[in-house]
Amino acid sequence: MSNPSLILVGFMGTGKSTLGKYIANQNSLTFVDLDDYIVDKTSQNIPEIFENKGETAFRELEYEALQETMSTYDIIATGGGIIEYAPSLALLRNAKGVIWVDCEFDTIFSRIKNDKNRPNAKNKSFVELKNLYSKRVSRYNEIAFKKVNSIQTVEVLSEEIFQLLDCE
Ligand code: S3P
Repeated sequence: MSNPSLILVGFMGTGKSTLGKYIANQNSLTFVDLDDYIVDKTSQNIPEIFENKGETAFRELEYEALQETMSTYDIIATGGGIIEYAPSLALLRNAKGVIWVDCEFDTIFSRIKNDKNRPNAKNKSFVELKNLYSKRVSRYNEIAFKKVNSIQTVEVLSEEIFQLLDCE
């Protein structure tokens, strides 16, 4: 596989990292979660970065991380807000193997509500988060060549994704 073969995009709580890790393990491929990469690189956790440097600085770090990992990893799980930053969006628009991981918003909400480690989910109501989700959907749709529903098992999703990649 050439780098990267698969870039998972989608809203917080849809299961991008779990899925990416599973596919990588099963196929002896390299995997990176961009949030983890940024945390390692800055020695700060995501809430600390948001608090100390602000969201725009985080988006710049995320863009750098995307650039660096696109040439070095097989599978990348991106953060849900990566499409908020024009340079990252442009990079993803031209990338191959971008798949949108999605599921019912009720499921997403139950997973991310009041998550202390997700500054954009913390202290947000159902309606506020649903509005953010609705605002982002068209961008995921624009950059991804296919969408998968993460309500299915990782085994089923993994097979589905390999078939989709073959057809891209
Ligand atoms: C964010 C999503 C998070 C993380 C940060 C911001 C967002 O990633 O990058 O908290 O704005 O949607 P996950 O999608 O992995 O939760």
